[in-house]
Amino acid sequence: MRRVLIVPLVFSYISLAVPEGRLLFENHCLRCHTEGSKKPVSYLKRKYRNNTRGILELARRCPWGRGLSEMEIGVIAEWLSGGK
Ligand code: HEC
Repeated sequence: MRRVLIVPLVFSYISLAVPEGRLLFENHCLRCHTEGSKKPVSYLKRKYRNNTRGILELARRCPWGRGLSEMEIGVIAEWLSGGK
């Protein structure tokens, strides 16, 4: 049953990288990075605009990157740094 759900999701990560990054962020990151928190998503977007690599490096060091696949982190990092 689970696999039926996961397979189309994985394909949509590849074809719709930008909106999927936002979705992943909302699912995995937003609870700590809402507007009004110390580092809201608007701050992250400003600080990391065009700096996908900076986010990727943080993800390897910080606890929030654990439990996510490289691909998921990559998709999130691209969305966050793309400013869209
Ligand atoms: C459990 C809470 C929590 C979750 C979940 C979380 N973060 Fe964070 N994040 C923090 C906190 C707290 C800091 C600030 C650390 C500091 O400044 O000392 C931080 C810092 C960051 C920074 C660096 C900010 C800076 O000042 O440069 C980035 C980028 C970031 N988070 C991205 C993410 C992403 C992407 C996700 C989801 C994959 C995520 N975070 C999920 C709590 C969280």
